[in-house]
Amino acid sequence: MKVTVCGAAGGIGQPLSLLLKLNPHVDELALFDIVNVHGVAADLNHINTPAKVTGHQPKDKADQSAVRAALERSDLVVIPAGVPRKPGMTRADLFNINASIIRDLVKNIGLTCPDASILIISNPVNSTVPIAAEVLKKLGVFNPSKLFGVTTLDSVRAETFLGDLVGEPAPEVKGRISVIGGHSGDTIIPLVNITTSISQKVQKISTSDYDNFINRVQFGGDEVVKAKNGAGSATLSMAYAGYRFAENILQSYFSSTFNSYYINDSAYIYLPGFEKGEKLSKKYLDGIDYFAVPVALRNGAVESLVNPFEEFTISDAEKQLISKALPGLKKSIEQGAAFVTGTKL
Ligand code: NAD
Ligand code: LMR
Repeated sequence: MKVTVCGAAGGIGQPLSLLLKLNPHVDELALFDIVNVHGVAADLNHINTPAKVTGHQPKDKADQSAVRAALERSDLVVIPAGVPRKPGMTRADLFNINASIIRDLVKNIGLTCPDASILIISNPVNSTVPIAAEVLKKLGVFNPSKLFGVTTLDSVRAETFLGDLVGEPAPEVKGRISVIGGHSGDTIIPLVNITTSISQKVQKISTSDYDNFINRVQFGGDEVVKAKNGAGSATLSMAYAGYRFAENILQSYFSSTFNSYYINDSAYIYLPGFEKGEKLSKKYLDGIDYFAVPVALRNGAVESLVNPFEEFTISDAEKQLISKALPGLKKSIEQGAAFVTGTKL
């Protein structure tokens, strides 16, 4: 399989590319960046795993040949390209720069490898995924089951912090908590699966401990931005999380990722692209078109999704988190979609 990483020389791009180089299903790994990418490719190529790594960097701003060569025949494209936050910034503050980066990269995906699964990491995810969808719609190649906003880091954080809180090893928490909604502050909504033993432990913790846990998941990104003190945002935990989702995609070509015991990872997807998603949007989410929900995958695409309102038992506290998330999420989605409607591709 061929995987392309756009933004491969960056803080996320480099460790993510390393992890992809180790995956036995990857036989071609194409790295695209506007700087320093040949060195990263040469370095990774010395690792004795099957994937052949190629580096692609444009000669100047007008040069589209490098990105097209990177994307050609790609099965999976992962995008951590763009600028990260500095202390005092919100993810929305990144929109002005990252919106056009995503628009231009996704245009090239639509023209070069329209059947690829696309994983968008670049922030603000709540808006960059609608941007990508609108570009693909304009090109007539939008496949909602293959466009994913990567929200796995929220799940990874929720598993880690909940494990600490209830005294369970984090790997045991995987599949017992889902994070739905968006990827920014109070649009991030952790839901504890009440059919599991974790839930009994959660019910025993104090309201303030529960509130602190929710706050830490919602603002975990800020914790890292502050600690890095101007040197960027989460890179290593994001590379791990991005790889976890990319691995799910690659694995889904060999078997469905559906596992009835564990809840599957969530991703931020276009709900009207699915019958069940359309109902979720209209009946429960005030018509919101994009939302992260647990997804089962097959052949790199969404095979089915979970409607949390019908398949989970949601507590009153969790219902409040959902209501609080919707207005902000709606605005970010509209901002993303309007950016493409208003520009020429
Ligand atoms: P970084 O600055 O270290 O790396 C970004 C890379 O993108 C750089 O190498 C840069 O040259 C490259 N780039 C810029 N414009 C490009 C273009 N047009 N084409 C190809 N490459 C281009 O930043 P980072 O820390 O790796 O973060 C990247 C993005 O990921 C940020 O927007 C950040 O907010 C986001 N992020 C998202 C999550 C998430 O959970 N979804 C988590 C962490 C970071
Ligand atoms: C995160 O959640 O760590 C990322 O979205 C990066 C950020 O800006 O917080």
